[in-house]
Amino acid sequence: MAKVTAAITAIGGYVPETKVTNKDLEKLVDTSDEWITTRTGIKERRIEKREGAGASDIAVPAVLELCEKRGISPEEIELLICATVTADYNFPSAANIIADKVGAKNAWSYDVNAACSGFIYALSTGAQFIETGRYKKVVIVGVDKMSSILNYNDRTTCVIFGDGGGAVLLEPNEEGLGIIDFALHSDGSGREFLYQPAGGSVQPASHESVDSQGHFVHQVGKQVFKFAVTNMADVSVDVMERNGLTGDTVDWLVPHQANLRIIDATANRMELDPKKVMINIEKFGNTTSGTIPLCLWEWEKQLNKGDNLILSAFGGGFTWGAVYLKWAYDSKK
Ligand code: UT7
Repeated sequence: MAKVTAAITAIGGYVPETKVTNKDLEKLVDTSDEWITTRTGIKERRIEKREGAGASDIAVPAVLELCEKRGISPEEIELLICATVTADYNFPSAANIIADKVGAKNAWSYDVNAACSGFIYALSTGAQFIETGRYKKVVIVGVDKMSSILNYNDRTTCVIFGDGGGAVLLEPNEEGLGIIDFALHSDGSGREFLYQPAGGSVQPASHESVDSQGHFVHQVGKQVFKFAVTNMADVSVDVMERNGLTGDTVDWLVPHQANLRIIDATANRMELDPKKVMINIEKFGNTTSGTIPLCLWEWEKQLNKGDNLILSAFGGGFTWGAVYLKWAYDSKK
């Protein structure tokens, strides 16, 4: 019997309508378009402004889009996993809410919290349920509403992040396509360099936690950069080497969009032609769990059956990893 792999068979994405340009941010904090562009590659980002909308509301159109593209009813989804650090509530999970809102009545669902590596963690986890033969339709969502935890007086963080997300459908494949390999890592000793200090069990919400701005993202950018630039490249090359891939045989790098300089360093180490690197950081900034599915969503029409993709990320935790997958369908048809 052929080995069953988990293949992406449909994809959806969504970014909020409101654009915030670097020029807009110049009015809020002491920054410049030139600084943001040269240090990060970002020109603008999207912000969710709809009254009362949470991360689930960004994910819902993405999940509905993939159902429509694949011609399935949401009721056919058996499991929905959502990667996010900005769930609508601390609990229940965003996945529970997304499943309810799309009408995935027969799915069970849960969240994965691995910051910017969340989508590849969730994808690798979801693939196991397909590979064992237990499930036939698993949806993986990567979504974040970063604007809900950003301090728009802090120039070191508010210029970097944006809102958005995407979703993929995983189904069994017996042609050797889909997720072939993954390498995932975490190192909690890096937690103080990128985290949200308050709102958890260490520092629950209080007057003090609000006064000290503990509910916002706190990042020591230089430290995170140092670890990201090394680890994202190392793990990508590791996955390539153990699967006999080279810069010539990799068709696409799908990198987490945190900083153009980190993406370039990873692509260089992989000896990849820059044309094979998906980059949309200039339009969407860093959407945390949303970056990788948003890239796949935007590039879908350029992907061909059998293409070798390396998905790669680094994020808070620290967490990092890479996934090797063979694209399973000709999207332009
Ligand atoms: O996605 C999850 C993982 N996150 C990442 O991978 C992010 C990794 N880190 C980075 O991408 C970069 O470190 C940043 C883009 C966050 C910052 O770039 P940097 O080149 O590392 O700058 P820096 O933090 O070393 O700051 C350099 C200077 C500082 O001023 P002084 O101390 O040299 O006077 C900052 O205060 O730039 C200043 N600065 C800014 N200036 C204008 C920091 N933010 C800004 C800003 N506009 N927005």
